[in-house]
Parts: sequence; C-alpha cells; structure tokens
Amino acid sequence: MMLLELKSIRVQYSEIIALHEVSLHINEGELVAVIGSNGAGKSTMLRAICGINRLSSGEIWFDGKKISSMKAFKTVEMGISHVPEGRRLFPRMTVYENLTLGAWTKRKDTIYIQQQIEKVYHLFPILKERASQKAETLSGGQAQQCAIGRALMCSPRMIMFDEPSLGVQPNIVARIFENIQQINQQGITVLLVEQNVKRALDLADRAYVLQTGNIVLEGTGTELMKSVMVQKAYLGI
Ligand SMILES: Nc1ncnc2c1ncn2[C@@H]1O[C@H](COP(=O)(O)OP(=O)(O)O)[C@@H](O)[C@H]1O
Ligand SMILES: [Mg+2]
Repeated sequence: MMLLELKSIRVQYSEIIALHEVSLHINEGELVAVIGSNGAGKSTMLRAICGINRLSSGEIWFDGKKISSMKAFKTVEMGISHVPEGRRLFPRMTVYENLTLGAWTKRKDTIYIQQQIEKVYHLFPILKERASQKAETLSGGQAQQCAIGRALMCSPRMIMFDEPSLGVQPNIVARIFENIQQINQQGITVLLVEQNVKRALDLADRAYVLQTGNIVLEGTGTELMKSVMVQKAYLGI
C-alpha cells in the first residue's frame, strides 16, 4: 500500500525554485532514500512533507489523505515524524525533557509518555544513563540518538531522517544507520535523505537521486549503486 505520495511538488523561496516538479512515493513499511549533494533540495522536501514549507504547486498525500495544506502539528497527528538536519535539540533542557517534548503534540498523559520513553531507552540505553544531563553535554552521536528518540515518542507511522550521519563521529555513523534499520524493522516506514550515498544505498529498499530540485533517477538501492552516473557523481568511482 502506498503511504506517501508527492505529486509534482514545487517549492520556492521567493524567486529561487528549490524543488521543481518532484514526484515520488513510499509504500508502507519501505525504507526509501533520497540522495543528493548539498543544496539539491533534500531538506526543503522533508520540510514540505511535514508542513513547514508551503508548496507553490503539486500535492502531497499520506495514508489516502491530502496533507499538503496541513499545518506541521497536524502532520504529526497523521503519524509523520521528522528528525531535522542538525538535530535541533533544546541544549539547556535535559535529555529526558527533550524526549518528552516529542510526545506532546500527540499525547500529554504520563502513562503514555513513560511507556514511550522506556521503548526509546531500550533502543538507546545511553539516553537512560544521560537522562538528567543537559542536551548540550551530549556528543554528536548521542545527540543524534536523542533526536531520533524524540521523533519516536509520538509513535509515528513514518519517520524522515535529514542527514543523520552529519556531525556524528565516523565510528558511530554505522551504529546510527543500524538504528534506522532497526526502527524500519519494527514496522515504521522510513524516508532517509543523505549525502552519505554509499551507506544510504546499502540500507535502502529503493532510492531516488535529487539534483538541483529534480528527481533524475530512481531504482532499488542495488541498482543505483551500480549506476555509472551515481558512481561518478556520488561515489567517486
Ligand atoms: N530559507 C531559505 N531561503 C532561501 N533559500 C533557501 C532556504 N533554504 C534553502 N534554500 C535554497 O534552496 C535550495 C535547496 O536547499 P536545501 O533544501 O537546504 O538542500 P539540501 O538539504 O539538499 O542541502 C538551495 O539552493 C538553498 O540555497
Ligand atoms: Mg539539507
């Protein structure tokens, strides 16, 4: 079943067109990657899906409903969660408080929050150890785990990851990608945008290549890994 569909979406910042006529879809349960260089429009695309950036034309559908005019809090209610580029934690708040905030748009009752937080601690035991520390004391990898944990707090149907490997120590990057895979294996649909093309294609069921606001190629992760264009432009082969 198709969970997310972008139909020829255009997004612009005044005169600059960041996304031209982007169309793609994600089936329920899939792990789909969108790869592209800096400035390709990846973050704009994710912000359009969760209702932060408005469309100039086109439509976005999720779970059979048109969501392209919904506000951001509404898309969270629909089951869409976003791990933004650069993580955007509240640095002076504790890890526990940051996690709690992830649940609030959905539900505020203590039992639900406690239940969700236990699931997050199970996935990221380090967050339990650091629960009462301020987020600003976390390493890059721990902060990424905290941002992912926060996104899980609203029990989403789909999570969108915006360059989760950015600013994470190289020895931790593999673990972050394993975490993303684990989350997908729990039945949560994943949209991953990355400049780390090799890792993203290794993980993805399917992937799209985004170049200056246009989808130029799509295929399975394996197909794209073998594509000469992808190898030349993104893998340095
Ligand atoms: N707030 C903004 N105002 C104006 N232009 C922007 C803004 N955010 C992004 N852009 C431009 O839109 C294009 C796509 O950016 P972005 O979505 O951040 O790409 P990516 O995430 O792939 O690096 C770039 O040309 C970028 O300079
Ligand atoms: Mg970006």
